[in-house]
Amino acid sequence: MTSWVKDIEFSFGDAMIPQQRILETVKRLRPMIRNMANALSGGCEGDMASLCLPDDMLMLGKIRQVIGEKLQLKPTYLIVNGIGGSNLGTIAVQEAVLGKLYNQLTTSTKVLYADTVDSDSINNIITLIKPVLEKGGNILLNVISKSGTTTETIANAEVLIDTIRRHKKDYKKCITVTSDTDSELWNIAVKEGFKVLEIQKKVGGRYSVFSPVGLFPLGLLGIDIKRLLDGAKCMNAVCIDTNIEKNPAAISAAIQYLHYESGKNISDLFLFANDLESLGKWCRQLMAESLGKKFNRKGETVNTGITPVISIGSTDLHSMAQLYLGGPCDKFTTFLSVENSNSNINVPTLREYSKLVYGIQGKSLESVMNAIVEGTKAAFRKGNRPFVEIKLSCKSEYQIGQFLQFKMIETIYLGYLLDVNPFDQPNVESYKEETRKILQKNETN
Ligand code: PA5
Repeated sequence: MTSWVKDIEFSFGDAMIPQQRILETVKRLRPMIRNMANALSGGCEGDMASLCLPDDMLMLGKIRQVIGEKLQLKPTYLIVNGIGGSNLGTIAVQEAVLGKLYNQLTTSTKVLYADTVDSDSINNIITLIKPVLEKGGNILLNVISKSGTTTETIANAEVLIDTIRRHKKDYKKCITVTSDTDSELWNIAVKEGFKVLEIQKKVGGRYSVFSPVGLFPLGLLGIDIKRLLDGAKCMNAVCIDTNIEKNPAAISAAIQYLHYESGKNISDLFLFANDLESLGKWCRQLMAESLGKKFNRKGETVNTGITPVISIGSTDLHSMAQLYLGGPCDKFTTFLSVENSNSNINVPTLREYSKLVYGIQGKSLESVMNAIVEGTKAAFRKGNRPFVEIKLSCKSEYQIGQFLQFKMIETIYLGYLLDVNPFDQPNVESYKEETRKILQKNETN
């Protein structure tokens, strides 16, 4: 079973579930597919608002305008200050398209991420930006929080705003706040005179990469955000389609659901590209927060959820493969590979090394990697370990946009099959609430 969409190929032939069972399960998704199609044609007022973001050209125009304004400052660094759904999508796309070593290679604006309240990490950021500020250069700080009350984001924002303010009289032009228009953070930002960008009401954190949360910082770094949205839009057409035999998101959700039902409750996303590691982390959050739920939609206690893990090929073959192939059969794997690298490097033909590993000399590293991917799949088949495969033609904006939208739609389908609400995160809220209580208590003591 293979489903081709321009630039992305899905193969389900090694899922080790009879096709008939997959199709029966996919058929159960029909009401949800209709809901999604209705949401798309009706302007996305409800929970599925994120699905409409790729079509929102008004939003794109506004974001581009602010990007243009801010780029005139010729910023040396952009600091993305947010956590979870407020920064994982940005890191994922930045690293996939521009590479993990972007900062070392670029001559343009570099990017720093401030998420957790790790004193040493924040100190490192301050150490990097201080000399720039002292020389009169510019730093852009993008504070991103939908709720506006996330402890880590606000603590880091206060530290960083203070650092910039100490060095710059006109520091306000360096700060952009992305938040819900109802949040207290939004009100303060407006009062302070910072530039503000609105997160659409119904768009939740982990579904917000195509909102100003992701598009603004990514556009500032030179990512083609229109192409990213175009890729996502293309997947709306394919994955919200009642032609279920060709709907890759529905098929993939059905397969994962059936494996979960039969006791395989670990889903491993095995990414054969270093620069896609953070894309894996974005997927991990999406699956964990959307599907890990105490209650089902009827309010019954179910404690359901699939545990997402990520592996990097081929690195983790030398770390995890023994467990994956020899350990318990409690996992289901998705292999993600990239057909065309951005570069072409060949192994030289040096005689002194020619007998160490046969068949690599004169070959491209890409073809060596392809052999490893094929070898891994063969080993999984031999070990009776189920997997599906996704191949991206390359790691450009369009293909990454396609993959992100595919995953969001797949997650909504999985939520439907598991009968849980994929849009809330009550237990994340509970840790936030408890932390606030502890901090408040410390203040009154
Ligand atoms: O997906 C989610 O809703 C969460 O991961 C949030 O994005 C995260 O907790 C940060 O919340 P906020 O954007 O309100 O600061």
